[in-house]
Amino acid sequence: MPCCHADFAAVEGSDRGFTVGMPTFTFGPGVLAEAGDSAAELGLKRVALFTDRTLASGEHVAKVKASLAAAHVDCVVYDEVVIEPTDKSLQEAARVARESNVDGYVSVGGGSVMDTCKAANLYASQPAEFMTYVNAPIGAGQRVPGPVKPHIACPTTSGTGSETTGISIFTLTSMNAKTGIISRRLIPTIALVDPDVTRSLPANVVASTGFDCMSHALESITARLYPRRLNPAQGIRRPVSQGANPFSDALATQALSSVGQYLVRAVKDASDTEARTEMMYAAMLAGIAFNAAGCHLPHGLSYAVSGLIRDWHVDGYPEGKTLIPHGMSVVLNNPSVWRHTAFAHPERHLRCARALGGATDGATHADAGEVLAGRIIELMRAAGMPNGLTALGFGEAQIDALATGAEPQYRVIKNAPIDVDRDVIKRLFRAALRYW
Ligand SMILES: NC(=O)c1ccc[n+]([C@@H]2O[C@H](COP(=O)([O-])OP(=O)(O)OC[C@H]3O[C@@H](n4cnc5c(N)ncnc54)[C@H](O)[C@@H]3O)[C@@H](O)[C@H]2O)c1
Ligand SMILES: [Fe+2]
Repeated sequence: MPCCHADFAAVEGSDRGFTVGMPTFTFGPGVLAEAGDSAAELGLKRVALFTDRTLASGEHVAKVKASLAAAHVDCVVYDEVVIEPTDKSLQEAARVARESNVDGYVSVGGGSVMDTCKAANLYASQPAEFMTYVNAPIGAGQRVPGPVKPHIACPTTSGTGSETTGISIFTLTSMNAKTGIISRRLIPTIALVDPDVTRSLPANVVASTGFDCMSHALESITARLYPRRLNPAQGIRRPVSQGANPFSDALATQALSSVGQYLVRAVKDASDTEARTEMMYAAMLAGIAFNAAGCHLPHGLSYAVSGLIRDWHVDGYPEGKTLIPHGMSVVLNNPSVWRHTAFAHPERHLRCARALGGATDGATHADAGEVLAGRIIELMRAAGMPNGLTALGFGEAQIDALATGAEPQYRVIKNAPIDVDRDVIKRLFRAALRYW
């Protein structure tokens, strides 16, 4: 890069540029009430409103419905979204979308809802066999050949940043692990990011989603630098996630300082409007950042953890269903990963620790991994996270299965700042078993 940073100097054969995609976003208390005018401005006459069962009868969906009605936009509600969606639940949503005869979509919910809406819109707009667009090597990884319909995303959690990304994540049941679909065409057209929604969030959801946001920012900054990306495609074939770049660095650093300052406050006190608003903003910034930079090891490893979890339930998530909240599965691998990757870019790991409020005074490059891991462990304990994978029932006996689930996550793992093989993956899981 010609302007500022030696990290981004061109290397032979490297890409000459990076592309950042994002929706038109509006941030502020009360902006859910702008859904109707936004839809009308896009020329929409009839939309499918995606949400989940818990939210369907609540105030956020009511506000969006009223706004659509006031703008004379017809709305059919789909509230069968599965929390932590699967290939089956996405296909069912796509079937309903195809039959709904709508000209656009509105999603009101967390990552599960927004991701389901993106996939339903995709398969209804560009029909194909399900695995066609799923990331290679798990799916065929084919490019989405044409546009999808307009999508207004209204996040109700403060973590995934899905309102800004071209990513839809789901569990592939046959593989017992998560994977996804990624395309710039999936980036919502408009994001209405209303921090008022966070007032009703259970503490556990604030904690898990907040750590998801933290990890998006950390992984953006520590990802392989974009001039060193392994995929040489350029121009319109440039991948959505291209590695660390100056734009995502700036947004991710800002998100980390909000996480360091506000996450624990937001978890502990639902009436702390300042903290919950800051976390909502941080999640959006980190979403824009990681969409362009890409995630890597903590997410890649988490996809195996969430696929293999058994008998685990967290309050605030649907009853009667085993699931590990996405952000929880991601943060449990964090300290282990940073201790291992810091040597590749100690400066960047120290920058992350500093932004999060870690004790970096006098820290040398050799301390970078430990300082960052230490600060994250502090935040995990303060926010009530489990003490490593052991707390979830994993042990030495499951390390092999976890590695098998993580290995095919090639899209994200290759974005790590170091090369990783099965032995390293096993070592990382082992080091994530217990932290204190
Ligand atoms: N597409 C992306 O870029 C991206 C990024 C990160 C994570 N994800 C995916 O997102 C999913 C997780 O999404 P999530 O963490 O936002 O949570 P979620 O959508 O799974 O919802 C978690 C729980 O919170 C409840 N909830 C949501 N908003 C609420 C509110 N305002 N008040 C009260 N309850 C509320 C839901 O009903 C649900 O029970 C995972 O599948 C993950 O893989 C996607
Ligand atoms: Fe995530």
